[in-house]
Amino acid sequence: MLLELAKSKKILFFGGKGGVGKTTVSSATAIARANAGGKVLLVSTDPAHNLGHLFDRTIGSQSVRIAPGLDALELDPAETASNHLKEISESLHQLMPVNLHGEIDKHILLSKDAPGMHEAALLERVASVVEEGKDEYDLIVFDTAPSGHTARLMVLPEMMSAWTEGLIKRREKADRFAEFVRELGRDTSMEDKTIGGATLKEQERESQIRRILLRRRRKFENLREHIVDADNTSFVIVLAAERLPVLETIELHEQLLRANIAVECLVVNKRAPANSGEFLKERHAQEELHLKVLNHALPGIRRYDIPLQSQDVLGIAALEDLARNL
Ligand SMILES: Nc1ncnc2c1ncn2[C@@H]1O[C@H](COP(=O)(O)OP(=O)(O)OP(=O)(O)O)[C@@H](O)[C@H]1O
Ligand SMILES: [Mg+2]
Repeated sequence: MLLELAKSKKILFFGGKGGVGKTTVSSATAIARANAGGKVLLVSTDPAHNLGHLFDRTIGSQSVRIAPGLDALELDPAETASNHLKEISESLHQLMPVNLHGEIDKHILLSKDAPGMHEAALLERVASVVEEGKDEYDLIVFDTAPSGHTARLMVLPEMMSAWTEGLIKRREKADRFAEFVRELGRDTSMEDKTIGGATLKEQERESQIRRILLRRRRKFENLREHIVDADNTSFVIVLAAERLPVLETIELHEQLLRANIAVECLVVNKRAPANSGEFLKERHAQEELHLKVLNHALPGIRRYDIPLQSQDVLGIAALEDLARNL
């Protein structure tokens, strides 16, 4: 069933509470799709990367081939944020007078640890990965960080475009003013004169900043369009059949629904077997009670259960084994 979903979509996000098996299930799905003949890109957005551990090899911020038809990469928020700030700093250096460069550098250094910086930078990378990968790959699979972080990331494109929108509006006013001044003058001697508190040079600087903001907003809007396009994108919530993961799944589903993101599949991982002794049988019955709550709250969404394996799932062979059940 997961394989069917992977065949019918172009982008799949896997999210859920910590430790439930997001990395394992997303990787197994990616392998299954690649083995079925697709070209797949597996991307980790989790700052505490574990794709590398799972496949027992180094995977970095550039994609590498890890199996036939399967490439992988781990987005590094710190590296992404610092590249992002470098780009901004270079633009600002070009735009601002030399005597302000020291001040700019100070601000940039402080921004590195500003709240939301890593998320915004990560989101820009997600947007680029989707933009660059959507034609090359049949499927892009995102293995995300535990719930709260992911839900924030999914609504962020909207917030980021609203935020840049506000800045752009202010810039537009300034631009109109600059145009007015240009029309008025057509006289180069006006250039450095102060009009309404701003020189013409300052106004042109503003309009260049506005162009940078517009480009950024377009990037977020594109990502948002992909994310809400239910024909091509779906979110899979992975959970354990326990009380808290069930409650958190219901909440995550609600947050995603509010952001217009389709959840087509719930994966209940590590199900206790019902036929392996009294203890596990009892555990299985307890899980059924929790899943009743889940089914009742989210009746329209398909559920897929994956049994608890006797060993940790490590390496391609173990993942392929697990993938045979998908
Ligand atoms: N069906 C399963 N049976 C047995 N062990 C499993 C199963 N699925 C996952 N595991 C094991 O559970 C552990 C956690 O899995 P995984 O890393 O995929 O979770 P995660 O949700 O990605 O965690 P995190 O929130 O830390 O990113 C791993 O050791 C993995 O091998
Ligand atoms: Mg993980």
